[in-house]
Amino acid sequence: MTTEDVPVLIERRGAVGILTIDRDSRLNALSRGTLYALGRLGKELVDDSAVRAIIVTGAGTRAFCAGADLKERQGFTLDDVRHQVGLYRSELGILDKSPKPVVALLNGVALGGGLELALVCDLRVAASHAVLGLPETSLGIIPGAGGTQRLARVVGEGRAVEMITLGRRLSAAEALSWGLVNHVVPEGENLLDATLAWLQPIANGAPIAQAAALKAIRASFEVPLERGLELESVYYDETLRSRDRDEALVAFAEKRKPVFRGE
Ligand code: COA
Repeated sequence: MTTEDVPVLIERRGAVGILTIDRDSRLNALSRGTLYALGRLGKELVDDSAVRAIIVTGAGTRAFCAGADLKERQGFTLDDVRHQVGLYRSELGILDKSPKPVVALLNGVALGGGLELALVCDLRVAASHAVLGLPETSLGIIPGAGGTQRLARVVGEGRAVEMITLGRRLSAAEALSWGLVNHVVPEGENLLDATLAWLQPIANGAPIAQAAALKAIRASFEVPLERGLELESVYYDETLRSRDRDEALVAFAEKRKPVFRGE
């Protein structure tokens, strides 16, 4: 079986599901098959009640993802390109709306659609050698997979304009200082192990609370403040009615760590 048959690998490490784009020879660029595989396997992990967090990463050490597969795209008609851009929304929507936190583990360059994929995720962890950028305007186009919308929400309008119009590429350290990545793994540490350790509060956490928190935070970008505060109350109530909340109170009284079951 070739890499093209299975462009994305899936594995589970404890409560963490891991999707790895396995196209190192093309710097893990997003072909049509890769987008479909991310959608299909993403759904598998979202539907798996034993999985509490999802990592999306790339094979090798050179690239998380170098964006659209420009070699595949050479043979595309304009309608093919439009269809492909639609796949970013339809196929990556499952990760975008995941009730479990999704983490992009940037093991190398994240350019164009690669950074847009990382922006679909809730959190971003980077290797110290990672480079992040949206070079689309230098190719005569604009980011078409959410980059113009999501980047500004994360780093603010001025910095988004700078990255997109100047084609400015950021080192991992710069991305950390801009808030574009949440955590940088120091050189020499095992990237996946360090990320799994960083994710322990989620992997051991209360899934209902995690999902409610994500829904509330995501809503803050969609609705006016008054409505957002109402929604926060609704989601808070979901956690109040959970057994995990009772378990946290009992564990506190018993001076032990809570064991959350997602109930
Ligand atoms: N689509 C398809 N193949 C890609 C690719 C992409 N987006 N990016 C890189 N590759 C391929 C290269 O063609 C090369 O294949 P080859 O060995 O058969 O020639 C291989 O991956 C390695 O890339 P290379 O350019 O030799 O590596 P590098 O370390 O010199 O440069 C990059 C790395 C990421 C800076 C460079 O590959 C690049 O600019 N890629 C395009 C990124 C981009 O503009 N993405 C946005 C698209 S909207």
